[in-house]
Amino acid sequence: MVDIIAWKGDRLELIDQRYLPFETKYFICRDAEETAFAVKNMVVRGAPAIGVTAAYGLALAVRKNPSSSAFKKACDVLAASRPTAINLFDAIDHMKTHLGDPGSISDPFEKAEAIAKAYDLDDQGKNKAIGKHGASILPGNRKVLTHCNTGSLATSGWGTALGVIRQLNEEKRLDMVYADETRPFLQGARLTVWECRQDNLPVTLVTDGMGGHLMTHELVDCVIVGSDRIAANGDVANKIGTFMLAMAANYHNIPFIVAAPTTTIALGTPTGRDIPIEQRPGDEITHVRGQRITQEGTAVFNPAFDVTPAKLVSAIVTEEGVFRYPYDFSKQ
Ligand code: MRU
Repeated sequence: MVDIIAWKGDRLELIDQRYLPFETKYFICRDAEETAFAVKNMVVRGAPAIGVTAAYGLALAVRKNPSSSAFKKACDVLAASRPTAINLFDAIDHMKTHLGDPGSISDPFEKAEAIAKAYDLDDQGKNKAIGKHGASILPGNRKVLTHCNTGSLATSGWGTALGVIRQLNEEKRLDMVYADETRPFLQGARLTVWECRQDNLPVTLVTDGMGGHLMTHELVDCVIVGSDRIAANGDVANKIGTFMLAMAANYHNIPFIVAAPTTTIALGTPTGRDIPIEQRPGDEITHVRGQRITQEGTAVFNPAFDVTPAKLVSAIVTEEGVFRYPYDFSKQ
């Protein structure tokens, strides 16, 4: 397991995920602006990790200037970095609520730092519980298909969907993880495969279009993914391509499981239609690692996430337990 977010008291050290798996470089944030840059440009990514990073970013902002107006500006700068992952907004709200107005309290930095550290720790604890709940609804030995990266590189702990997979492995019930590439940013090929290999989990890389084939040939018997935002009705936003996997799983009658902390459930977002979908730069599609792969001038559409309707989701696993369709997050 890797520690991707290291708080150093006067700065935040992030493993720069843009260079993985070939180089381990660090990106240093000293204020909210540098933190927002890191989130926007995918130095750090994955919904829970974005939330924890933003919490520390606000502690850095208070360290630099504890005035109310500077704090408000820092919150706005961070909130504008990426629109889909609700964890970003949850972290900002959490800091605002627990800190209050830094301009009118004593020791604002010490308080902001303590709140951010507690938020970070809380996410770590949730991951283990998610893993246990998730593994408990998957009896027997498992061949899992997963999408994007949901492990230590996307959280402060051992992961959400990858946490369930790690738990299956600890219970010696993991036969294989199929990690799809996750075009266009290749979080699966670059990050999930790397994480699995670091921890000796059996992993096979496949392309995004292979999910249906794997299911038809019984090479996988469940799909486990994370989420960036779960609407109040159970619709799930996750990395682009997730919806197609859910449809294929439904056709093959195999479980399609979403693993996420309760901070990913957005009760203020009624349905999937209300989830803002981030549009990313076209060069993520036209280029691979700086190398052009299509003709110059090609029109590109690059939504980073899609929404899987609640009906296609077999279970939503949180640290509090397992929810099933029709989703009602007010009770279990
Ligand atoms: O664009 P990314 O890499 O931030 O997208 C990440 C995902 O889609 C993950 O599946 C999601 O954030 C859950 S991470 C535990």
